[in-house]
Amino acid sequence: MGNKTAGQSSDSPSNSGDQFSSIGFIASAIGSAIGLGNLWKFPYIAGKHGGGAFLIVFVICLIFVGMPILLAELSIGRGGRGNASTSYLKLSGSKLWARSGFLSIFASFLIMCFYSVVAGWTLYYTFTSFTGSLYESTNFSEHFSQFTGSYGPIIWQLIALLICLAIIMRGVSSGIERFNKILIPLLAIVLVILMVRSLMLPGALEGAEFFFKPDFSKITGESVLDALGQAFFSLSLGMGAMITFGSYVNKKQSLTAATLAVSGGNILYALIAGLIIFPVTFTYGIEAGQGPGLVFAALPAAFEAMPFGSIFGGLFFGLLAMAALTSAVSLLEVNVAYAISKWKWSRARATYLITFIIFLISIPTSLSMGGILGDYKLWGYNLFDLIDYVASNILLPISGLASTLFAGYVWKYAAEESGLTPLWQRGWIFLLRYITPILVAFVFLYSVGLLNIF
Ligand code: PHE
Repeated sequence: MGNKTAGQSSDSPSNSGDQFSSIGFIASAIGSAIGLGNLWKFPYIAGKHGGGAFLIVFVICLIFVGMPILLAELSIGRGGRGNASTSYLKLSGSKLWARSGFLSIFASFLIMCFYSVVAGWTLYYTFTSFTGSLYESTNFSEHFSQFTGSYGPIIWQLIALLICLAIIMRGVSSGIERFNKILIPLLAIVLVILMVRSLMLPGALEGAEFFFKPDFSKITGESVLDALGQAFFSLSLGMGAMITFGSYVNKKQSLTAATLAVSGGNILYALIAGLIIFPVTFTYGIEAGQGPGLVFAALPAAFEAMPFGSIFGGLFFGLLAMAALTSAVSLLEVNVAYAISKWKWSRARATYLITFIIFLISIPTSLSMGGILGDYKLWGYNLFDLIDYVASNILLPISGLASTLFAGYVWKYAAEESGLTPLWQRGWIFLLRYITPILVAFVFLYSVGLLNIF
């Protein structure tokens, strides 16, 4: 146990020496973290739990659970220099740990099967908002359910997958890194433009107040668990993404700086997303706590009513699309890296085959959202929700727990690899041993219904 050096001298077989530069690594990790979770999910769960108070709980979860695990996963990847499964194997020599790593790869595969569907929706909404055809409809929530219930999304998810394929084929530095180095600043620029526009709306103050003024009476046990789950998902933890990216970076890179940049960037983007969405909802009388339909079913009505709304809407959905694609790329890379080292496939072959399989599975996933497969339910879930549930609520916490326990108890050189100063190392290991696993276990038990305390 605790083998430090195995595998360190050689490059990961999954990338044959192809590595990130420091800035490319940080941009790509931020790209993975910032996704639909920040811009689509965060605003509606914050809306559901009363805005400001939820924001505070979310930040606390990010600091005490998200950041320690993020640093652990990046360290495991760089220390093990392999994919999300072999990194564990190299560092511990144990097949059991390798299997727990495999779970995270499987989770990323499953997530990709519905994430690509939603990424497709964002592309469709971007396109139809810019052309104006989105605004021909009179009832946007009906339009949304008609669209998701049709065959149309299959084409759009194929486009999303082909974009990911084109990037992953080019490899780490000229594919993933280059894409993220362009998209992340672009994302920031569009985000700021939209925020400024949103804050000029008459309901801006009310919206900002709702988002920032904490109303702790709205915080329940469920809000805390939602915040924890959200911190997890939005930092791309438990899915092998950060382990895989960590394996593509050299020893000179400070992992603590990367952890701070990714977590800080993640909070910032979620904050700005709220500052875009809530002024719009308050100005146009849209219910902020209405759930997943908030962005697709409700916001177009506001864009329609706004001067130059189709441009504003197009930019907004374009922003979602860019954020979704940079995350999807990291999910695909987790699988491709695994296939390359496990079956010795070429990158091209691995990328084609895996993308194709994901596409095949995402067809029924898409059709289960109100389409012909909408009535087929397993344990009360349609396929889309079932995949989301299994991956997000079961596999993710289990593999997140595994990385916490591994860095906290098993891998003796975790603290050294993390690059923290000795005092911070002690704090970090303490969190990984005694705090983080307990909180993650709570989320898990709660989300599978074994803990009905609320
Ligand atoms: N972090 C992404 C988001 O917030 C989702 C994601 C999870 C992406 C895991 C990659 C890996 O949307």
